[in-house]
Amino acid sequence: MCGIVGYIGALRATPLIVDGLQRLEYRGYDSAGVAVLADGQIEIRRDVGKLSNLQARLQADPIDGTTGIGHTRWATHGVPAEHNAHPHISMDGEFVVVHNGIVENYLPLRDELSAEGVQFASETDTEVIVQLIARLAQNGAHGDLTEATRQAATYLRGSHAIVVMSRRQPDRLVAVRIGNAGGVAIGLGQGENYIASDIPAILEHTRQMIFLESRQIATVRADGCTIQTLDGHPVEPQIHAIAWDPVSAAKGEYKHFMQKEIFEQGRSITDTIRGRVHFDHNTVTLPDLNLTEADARALTRLVTVACGTSYYSGLVGKFYIEQLARLNVEVDYGSEYRYRDPILDHNTAVLSITQSGETVDTLAAMEEAQSKGARLLSIVNAIGSQAMRVADGHISMNAGPEIGVASTKAFTSSMVDQYLLALYLGQLRGVLTPDQRAQHVQDLAHLPDLVSRTLERHEAVEALAQQLHHFTDFLYLGRGINYPIALEGALKLKEISYIHAEGYPAGEMKHGPIALIDENMPVVAIALKDAVYDKMISQIEQAKARGGIVIALATEGDTFVATKADHVLYVPEAPALLNPIIAVIPLQLLAYSIAVWRGADVDQPRNLAKSVTVE
Ligand code: AGP
Repeated sequence: MCGIVGYIGALRATPLIVDGLQRLEYRGYDSAGVAVLADGQIEIRRDVGKLSNLQARLQADPIDGTTGIGHTRWATHGVPAEHNAHPHISMDGEFVVVHNGIVENYLPLRDELSAEGVQFASETDTEVIVQLIARLAQNGAHGDLTEATRQAATYLRGSHAIVVMSRRQPDRLVAVRIGNAGGVAIGLGQGENYIASDIPAILEHTRQMIFLESRQIATVRADGCTIQTLDGHPVEPQIHAIAWDPVSAAKGEYKHFMQKEIFEQGRSITDTIRGRVHFDHNTVTLPDLNLTEADARALTRLVTVACGTSYYSGLVGKFYIEQLARLNVEVDYGSEYRYRDPILDHNTAVLSITQSGETVDTLAAMEEAQSKGARLLSIVNAIGSQAMRVADGHISMNAGPEIGVASTKAFTSSMVDQYLLALYLGQLRGVLTPDQRAQHVQDLAHLPDLVSRTLERHEAVEALAQQLHHFTDFLYLGRGINYPIALEGALKLKEISYIHAEGYPAGEMKHGPIALIDENMPVVAIALKDAVYDKMISQIEQAKARGGIVIALATEGDTFVATKADHVLYVPEAPALLNPIIAVIPLQLLAYSIAVWRGADVDQPRNLAKSVTVE
């Protein structure tokens, strides 16, 4: 959850680290800190709250040096306070550490170190790491930073990304990755090198990256980098060239990343489709999926595992894959999956959907599936992330960096990916007639245009947000393939505006939630012209009869719905299977605009972080 940046080279480290942290602030904003080697000493500045507080402190009290580490914190152990902020320094002042993850056995380690006389300066689990390194450096590691860190890592339970710096060996930073607490990317430059928990932090400086695997430790110097396993075996690093454009990781003319990412969806969806769909012969190719025709035909079931917005995307994908590939699909929360001893075999494919590729619950579900012999597939946005690497095959979302904590463009791209997967499986399994396949493939050609036309209507949504922003409860209703969109619309609203909102299957409303409806309850009803349109109209009538304020999401040209609902937001007519991708856009815009009206911090909503790397 926390963000980590490290630099070693010839330039001033502090501004580079702070700039990287700024690009990672979405990962945590309870506190931030930097440590820089200046004149042979470790200088630390830390502050609570947003990075701007740290920046102000650094302006008043700068530190200069060419090697350093920095951190933005999402608090787990120890309240957000300056003394709990990273970097943490050892009692002897020799070592300093930044960390992402939870030291599950920190209490016994802390007791042991305390008994030896170590005085702790924080309540964090992280501090035991640096105190442990200091102790080991004095003993078996003979002062060597890499060796002391390697030995310390073997004591830690849980998943971790750790970066350590020492005043004794100023020519290096040492980074370790254990488990799935988060990535460690090493960015390679000319006479300088970078370390970051996420690519966007350092993308402006280099696109050549090495990603540490679990239980690997890197010694990063200005002129190179060596990697070994925690067992001491050398590792030949694999260098990845990252195609992301650094400009796309910046906010540009937009007020918030979320706003930018909503408006980018015409382009991001085009990028998701590009190169995979052959409109001239109506086929789809997904080479990174590593699936043969025989594999696809042998599949008896697909289980999707994901969390949050990605889970809702999986619920839409179930419609795609069942309908177009005639393959039975179950969708499960990553955080729940492994707690019920799931039944799996090698004819089951487990598909994880994850923007970050780092969500620890989703990765744990993948591990469980792998241990039971299932074929692992993943749909991932973050290139080189764990979920991409451990899967037998993957489909990239190609949405570009998503910085806003509230996921938007990754949601639509992941639905498109599942549509492609469904067509591809349908093709390999021979379940679609050529005409059916042609129809579904050709439908995709219009999707970016439909998205752009939907976005053109943003002013109507903004005007509606002005009228609705003071309500404190919302109900979102959808049916069939649009029910997950009701869930997602409600999630977006609660995440960024802190308004209580519930998504519900429209047909279930009469079984309970209808009791909630009165004149203080706006009801957002997704009532597009599809197979359940009439049913949605009667749901709208039921809500109106109880005094609810109904906002209908309707198909362009539907004047009838306007006679029933209080407000109508129109979207262009689209093929039924693609409706969810269109329908979610006004709901993203509505949540965004309501949050802006309420003065909420859209890109960094309270208590949240972009990738959730703790259980
Ligand atoms: C989305 O707006 C949320 N911030 C959150 O639900 C997110 O989708 C979830 O944590 C899963 O993340 P992932 O896609 O990176 O795995």
